[in-house]
Amino acid sequence: MTESTAFAGPKGVPDYFPPASDRFLAVRDTLLGATRLAGYGYVELPVFEETGLFARGVGESTDVVSKEMFSFTDRGGRSVTLRPEGTAGVMRTVIEHGLDRGQLPVKLAYAGQFFRAEQPQAGRYRQFHQVGVEAIGVDDPALDAEVIAIADEGFRALGLTGYRLELTSLGDATCRPAYRDKLQAFLATLPLDEATRRRAELNPLRVLDDKRPEVRELVADAPLMVDHLSDDARTHYEQVKAHLGALGVKYVENPRMVRGLDYYTKTCFEFVHDGLGSQSGIGGGGRYDGLMARLGGAELSGVGFGLGVDRALLACQAEGVGPGEPTRCDVYGVPLGEAAKARLVGLSAGLRAAGVRFDLSYGGRGLKGAMKGADRSGARYALVLGERDIEAGVVQLKELATGEQRSVPLDDAVVAVREALGR
Ligand code: HAM
Repeated sequence: MTESTAFAGPKGVPDYFPPASDRFLAVRDTLLGATRLAGYGYVELPVFEETGLFARGVGESTDVVSKEMFSFTDRGGRSVTLRPEGTAGVMRTVIEHGLDRGQLPVKLAYAGQFFRAEQPQAGRYRQFHQVGVEAIGVDDPALDAEVIAIADEGFRALGLTGYRLELTSLGDATCRPAYRDKLQAFLATLPLDEATRRRAELNPLRVLDDKRPEVRELVADAPLMVDHLSDDARTHYEQVKAHLGALGVKYVENPRMVRGLDYYTKTCFEFVHDGLGSQSGIGGGGRYDGLMARLGGAELSGVGFGLGVDRALLACQAEGVGPGEPTRCDVYGVPLGEAAKARLVGLSAGLRAAGVRFDLSYGGRGLKGAMKGADRSGARYALVLGERDIEAGVVQLKELATGEQRSVPLDDAVVAVREALGR
């Protein structure tokens, strides 16, 4: 490669630039806004953590940990990993800073990049963005319902309608081991291929989620977790559904749902969008009792979600809805000469302080080029300043749509611009 060869971005990592980047930010902020309405405080997490945190938190047998982590050795010889998800990092923060010593539940929200070395395809990236929440320390089905309702509210606030909420219960420590044995015994009777048989040994639940029609047919009569729940888990599940009903959140039950992370217990859910092809999960989450203790913290329960910002943006595009206008300015400065440019640069601080979005023509372009810049900027007005205007102490305020122009005193330009904008 010669020194002048251009670089390409890393594989599977989306670049967001104007105008799409404005919609990206608006989608993220709308999803985050829904968490604020329910009292979740923002936590900014490190982008990398000790590798062991994810190995123990997410589970060694998951694809995320065994195949998809971006891990490296730092200069001190420690193994660190770019965060593949947010829940383990939140637990670490809560434990390390004793956030669970105050009022419970601890309610935290986060947003940012996550990293998984997956095979890139439409909607599946190696660096992607999530908005997430975790509610820690109270085992109350009403809290599961709240978490689900916030996610639903966030998607609705984006204007999305073409998605469904899938719900199930994965049971708890009393009922899941017995169910797992039962499922394994059932799978052992089937004529499965070698790879599937091995999967049945490691993670039998995943066989239930197999997309191949021939496997689907074989496992059609497999025992399901929801039919083998302990009394406690069943009551919990029934109450979550009742609370969702009261909240007006619609759901469909999917007893074959499989999540890619090991920590889930009881409630599990996924938001699935129909317009995205195979990467249809726009968000997911559930309860994870036992995770905190496994990571060295107190014996506290937790429930949360992670919403995919990139996929929510794709869903908005598919439905032709969503927030976020391209950044444009209100007023564009057209200086004719260096002295005029200096005056407009001086004026820019006052205009922006007054909340006026202002840009100006840089680089000594002539009137024609600068006016072209004004049109492209999307501004409503141009402030045109020439040498004679400076001598007269005025500036020309020109409405770009109509071409109408009038002189306003240079000293009163901020007030005049605000009035013209109707502010
Ligand atoms: P997750 O289901 O692995 O859950 O990810 C949540 C969401 O992140 C997915 O529904 C999807 O929209 C998005 N996502 C995941 N991987 C990718 C990717 N490679 N490219 C684009 N988007 C992606 C979690 O991460 C859990 N920590 C959620 C949670 C929080 N559970 C409890 N608390």
